[in-house]
Amino acid sequence: MSLLSLASTKPATTSADSLLVTITPGRGKKVVVHGAGITASQGTKIAEALQAVSATGKAGEITRVPSPAAIKASTIIAVGLGDRDADTDGEKLRRAIGSAVRGSTGQRKIAIVPPDTDDSTITDVAMAARLGAYAFTAFKSSDPATARPVRSVTILVPAPAGAAREIIDKTETVGEAVCFTRDLVNTPPNALAPADLAQAAKDSVAGLPVTVKIWDEKALEKDNCGGILGVGKGSSRPPRLVRMTYAPRGATSHVALVGKGITFDTGGISIKPAANMDEMKADMSGAAAVIGAMRAIASLGLSVKVTGWVPAAENMPSGTAQRPGDVLRTYSGTTVEVLNTDAEGRLVLADALGMAVEDAPDLIVDVATLTGAQRIALGSRTAGVMANNDDARTQVIDAANAAGEAMWPMPLPEDLRPSLDSATADIANIGDRLGGMLSAGIFLSEFIPADQPWVHIDIAGPAFNEKSAYGYIPKGGTGAAVRTFVELVEDFTRD
Ligand code: BES
Ligand code: MN
Ligand code: ZN
Repeated sequence: MSLLSLASTKPATTSADSLLVTITPGRGKKVVVHGAGITASQGTKIAEALQAVSATGKAGEITRVPSPAAIKASTIIAVGLGDRDADTDGEKLRRAIGSAVRGSTGQRKIAIVPPDTDDSTITDVAMAARLGAYAFTAFKSSDPATARPVRSVTILVPAPAGAAREIIDKTETVGEAVCFTRDLVNTPPNALAPADLAQAAKDSVAGLPVTVKIWDEKALEKDNCGGILGVGKGSSRPPRLVRMTYAPRGATSHVALVGKGITFDTGGISIKPAANMDEMKADMSGAAAVIGAMRAIASLGLSVKVTGWVPAAENMPSGTAQRPGDVLRTYSGTTVEVLNTDAEGRLVLADALGMAVEDAPDLIVDVATLTGAQRIALGSRTAGVMANNDDARTQVIDAANAAGEAMWPMPLPEDLRPSLDSATADIANIGDRLGGMLSAGIFLSEFIPADQPWVHIDIAGPAFNEKSAYGYIPKGGTGAAVRTFVELVEDFTRD
């Protein structure tokens, strides 16, 4: 059942637990109520009820009051937008709506009156509501009704045109995929071994025109995937590689998406400190984003060939684990000296990228929770984007901007390459600590031919919100990069 729906009933006569309206500061201590279909007298009554509890309309303010008699819904939720320039600030609107819906747990149905009826406004409101109505409760044995996320959100648009219907349907599909990705990220690591992640990838596209191939440890051996095998061999739960192929008839472009799928990263023999190690269950967030994006792209029927690659392993210390000093032979034949077993993401990606380049797609994008250095450089909300091709990097960042995700361009400075030199093998898996996000990117670039457009997105920070929820972003898995991937692939349909 979809969470979002569209209706053209008048706001005042719509039945719902709450009617959500947006407000901005007015003259003196007054507020202005926005939204098509709210009459002047209804607006005044709502404003008076809000002013009586000192609502100001400032950005992010959320005020709940019992509805005035003229309104059928029981409660009014007023979301402050501040002195908003309605045309430019989509993220401000998404955050405000998102936190109001997120905070409305226990309600069954919310009806939202968007501040205006522009397509972009309806899109922002619908996406924020879809992503705000999320909670991960699969492992809670009691699930109190008051903690349940909002189950149904109706967007009220007078006489909804075809455009509004399409927006709601698409937003439902993409939003559902983002929430699916969040669920995968939030799933505890004992419940999500590499084989489980592979099975989840397969299940996620059941009934969709996507074919799935899974390499088990024997097949990985046969295909010389030394990187994935090296990382996976410390775990009793063997590694996997998944390829998801969506090849709609008539597609003229091909995009490959590659996601790091470390189901738990202890660091291996180069073991991590205990503090916050639990967060390393999110080290498969790149893989989860690729799986979610494949599901959305195939559901939307976008006319672009898309191949998703998920190298999955659990990085554990044990008697069978790889050692610092071991040399691995990757799929493409390049040998790697493992100087630090905690730099494992690049090892599994090396094999997957080596396979992805054989198809020579128009673009390869990999996404990974690759380095702590990403968080030092850009903080926990902005992803770092590196590439061997300026146009491709710009295309990905433009897609992120259009989708509403924070991503920023980063260089791959040649002077860092010698720090990856190995005395024994072709390359070492760690380089200079300073610029660690960039040396990781440079390592990956070694597996990409110079004429193959390739972009690398480091989402170590943005994939997992270890702090409190904000806007439409919950605590835990965020679903980072899914919306960007859908937008990027759509962009290829416009070429
Ligand atoms: N999965 C981690 C990166 C990470 C750290 C993601 C914190 C999210 C939050 C990655 O495998 C890792 O351990 N990287 C090392 C690389 C180093 C050994 C060169 C790091 O960043 O410390
Ligand atoms: Mn690691
Ligand atoms: Zn890792």
